[in-house]
Amino acid sequence: MAELSRRGVLALGAFGAFGMPSVERAVPWTWPSSGSITGTGTGADPRQIWDTDADPVAARLLDSGVVPVVNRLLWDWNRNDQPLPAGLPDYLHDFIESARTLPAWADRAKLEAAARFNKSRGLYLNLLNGVGGGMLSTAIPKEAWSVYYSKGGADMEDRVAKTSLLGFSVGSLNAYRPDGDCVVQAVKTRLVHAAVRHLLQQSPHWKWGVPISQEDILVTWHTLPTYAMRKMREWAVPISAADSQAYLHVWQVTAHLLGVRDEYIPATWAAANAQSDQVLPPNMGPTREGVELTDILLGQLAEQTSPGSVSRPLVNALARYLAGPQVADWDEIPREPVWEPLIARLWPILVRFREGLVPLPLVPETAWVIDEAVRQYILFFLTKGQETKIEIPTTNRPG
Ligand code: HEM
Repeated sequence: MAELSRRGVLALGAFGAFGMPSVERAVPWTWPSSGSITGTGTGADPRQIWDTDADPVAARLLDSGVVPVVNRLLWDWNRNDQPLPAGLPDYLHDFIESARTLPAWADRAKLEAAARFNKSRGLYLNLLNGVGGGMLSTAIPKEAWSVYYSKGGADMEDRVAKTSLLGFSVGSLNAYRPDGDCVVQAVKTRLVHAAVRHLLQQSPHWKWGVPISQEDILVTWHTLPTYAMRKMREWAVPISAADSQAYLHVWQVTAHLLGVRDEYIPATWAAANAQSDQVLPPNMGPTREGVELTDILLGQLAEQTSPGSVSRPLVNALARYLAGPQVADWDEIPREPVWEPLIARLWPILVRFREGLVPLPLVPETAWVIDEAVRQYILFFLTKGQETKIEIPTTNRPG
């Protein structure tokens, strides 16, 4: 992932200049289900599989016009252990009851360890999953198109705040405890994705078949934990084997709750890295929509954190540092000759300081400007996230 450039050339081959898919990838699906959490599977191609349980539920909700009522009822459904509100259609009630059940392989002890790890490395993880993962996802053409042309594409601030609800939830101490909300956020997201599959195909702008296949979800999944773990390794963050397993586990459970079939959920980091290397390169490249979304995201970040304190050049440079040059160029993030070398030099020092590996006097003053930018970014989206909830959309992007 760090060195996407060579693979990027391959991706451009699949998408042509500016993201129009020239040919469907003829490469067979070869990732072995023996590497999955259940160690077995059908070997079916995940590009041809969507969500057979959630999709008919969302389609029925939308076709019968009850989504606004359902959204109102689900507004106060927030805790993992909370009973569902009365009044939901039976088929939705049954779906959620089944979808909210943790898989038999979920390991409470590992989930607790993951929560502690997420807390201790929260700064890196929020930065990597938020800014880093965000920049990668706008360089995934199918994702950029679907985000752009769906309802949330018209209001990116709210869209990002909603998405970060799940991100912060996965990283919270009580994520999968009874009083946490990760199950709720993931199941709601699964329903949102199912609704998007139904709606986007009705958009006059949409020409890419049924969106959000199992493979598409895996692609995005790898821009989250797989990318984050690789980056933390690159920064030499000390991580014990138990913590690394636990962190993988919390994301395995989350993938399951998002509707990914167990046969595609990697059992180990080695299997995850292999799957990431298979699915990411052919699914990445530049699009006009991705460039626009990136610009909106970075603009918001620079303007709205704390006015004047985090400049757009600093935000650009941070985003380029996290995404790497290939993805940054696809996203057309402007080059920043002053900040880029500074961040490349100072961020590793900040990491070493945070990890107790170097003493304070070795951290240059400028490094705290970067540290502050990262903190403000996280605070900004934490605050935004408190104002909103994940809801099933009823329309595409207007216009
Ligand atoms: C909505 C997370 C994969 C496209 C959401 C939401 C979350 C989320 C939390 C709810 C926020 C909202 O309603 O705006 C994730 C995670 C993924 C994933 C964690 C993988 C691990 C994907 C993929 C695509 C996609 C692969 C497309 C290729 C969308 C779209 C929406 C959405 C279009 C709805 C936006 C709207 O209502 O306008 N996703 N997603 N997501 N996601 Fe995903």
